[in-house]
Amino acid sequence: MREYDFIVVGSGIAGLSFALRAAEHGTVAVLTKREAERSNTAWAQGGISCVADPEDSFESHVADTVGAGAGLCDEAVVRTIVEAAPGAIAGMVEQGVAFDRENGGFRLGKEGGHDHRRILHARDTTGLEISGKLLAAARACGRIDLLENHFAIDLITTAKLGFASEDRIVGLYALDEGGGEIVTFRSDRVALCTGGCGRVYLYTTNPDVATGDGVAMAYRAGAAVANMEFVQFHPTCLYHHERKNFLISEAVRGEGGVLIGADGAEFMSKHDPRASLAPRDIVARAIDGEIKRTGAPCVYVDISHRPKDFIASRFPNIYQTCLSLGIDAATQPVPVVPAAHYQCGGVRTDVDGRTGIRGLYAIGEVAYTGLHGANRLASNSLLEGAVVAGRALDHMVEHEPPGASLRDYSVPEWVSGDAEDVDELVVIYHNWDEIRRLMWDYVSIVRTNKRLQRAATRLQNLRREVQEFYWNFKICSELLELRNLVETASLVVDCARRRRESRGLHYTLDFPEAGGSGPPRDTVMTRG
Ligand code: SIN
Repeated sequence: MREYDFIVVGSGIAGLSFALRAAEHGTVAVLTKREAERSNTAWAQGGISCVADPEDSFESHVADTVGAGAGLCDEAVVRTIVEAAPGAIAGMVEQGVAFDRENGGFRLGKEGGHDHRRILHARDTTGLEISGKLLAAARACGRIDLLENHFAIDLITTAKLGFASEDRIVGLYALDEGGGEIVTFRSDRVALCTGGCGRVYLYTTNPDVATGDGVAMAYRAGAAVANMEFVQFHPTCLYHHERKNFLISEAVRGEGGVLIGADGAEFMSKHDPRASLAPRDIVARAIDGEIKRTGAPCVYVDISHRPKDFIASRFPNIYQTCLSLGIDAATQPVPVVPAAHYQCGGVRTDVDGRTGIRGLYAIGEVAYTGLHGANRLASNSLLEGAVVAGRALDHMVEHEPPGASLRDYSVPEWVSGDAEDVDELVVIYHNWDEIRRLMWDYVSIVRTNKRLQRAATRLQNLRREVQEFYWNFKICSELLELRNLVETASLVVDCARRRRESRGLHYTLDFPEAGGSGPPRDTVMTRG
């Protein structure tokens, strides 16, 4: 049994920003299921949005965010986060994050749905720059226990322990993969910063750690989860048999890249006046339609009209990676397809990251604050992670005194019973593949009632099977990921089935219009 003043699960921008500030107030453990470098943040290419040009304004950033969000953004939340952006950026710069600069200010990029240039970036590896600097600071700080290869299994709450009092967090169980032990962690203050669930889909721009762990854990613990039907498909993932999840950043289109079909013709202006820089839901749907209409396996981003030196210096990672695969972006168009990219829904919180379980906060992609609504505006997510992390810490310090639950509730250690080692990992891998394929085939960019129903039935059977494994076999990370994956995929499908309209990222042929006369509503799921 180990006790901390703060426990953080996840080592992306949200988790590390939170931990660095929490360390000023007490003991901190950051649990991360693999090496701390492996987060969605580290893979972010494009950047982080912030009003930094005198010609730009908070009003405009708010309007663009709310416009992309298709009626579901919480405008007060949007405003709070947008207005906090300059402070969050200053904090990162203080930690050593080196954003690209020009003429004495930040060099600003443009992405889909933004009316102004307002994307701060570090070439095309912005996330790596941010997470590298935050991680170095966390390692150097001396007051943060960075526990790698610690896979959080389940949250421990007073309700789960059978107490009738107000439901509050008292800790969590985690698998220490090094020692093979299950460790009980005690804390009154837990920040879930586990990122999203891109890996529930066959094709994704996400790293393999993105298996929906935080959403699944919070849901099992009784927290409300909202709007999981809004999965954002990035329009331009590289189409190549060797590199299936490499992103061609939207910033490439921001610098003049044009989407063209297999016939070489530009097609986006038929769909939206903003053409290749329309918001992602519109672009991804148009590409999906183009691919289906022509039977071609992909479309292309063409930036070959820009000078080679510009492309190679502004997008060194993209340029070199493509080149290593035989594609020279300076002389030829780059083949792309849409792929699952960002979970816009998540554990329902307020703008301070508070869930309905006292002491449990969710921050970043794992959470639904109301910032993204039905469709996230590009480069708003790193911003949300950084801003809400600071607010959550302030809220916790003010309202959640440490030690109360440690005194009042005893927590049992984990009991493994007579569980056996998994004898055939192939069964786990098979189920994993089946989930990802059925989600891709039945629950991706264009949906129908029939496909969703089919997915729901299959997932129900898979859930039953995975539950059996869970109770009968010794815990291993593959089994934990499968359990979370099936839970999260089911939430996506269940939310999608409840939304009987098309809105933002959720598009269904059975209800092609935005529905109803009342105000648009969130889809909220709580474990019954
Ligand atoms: C990109 O570089 O296109 C991704 C940026 C984002 O998802 O916000």
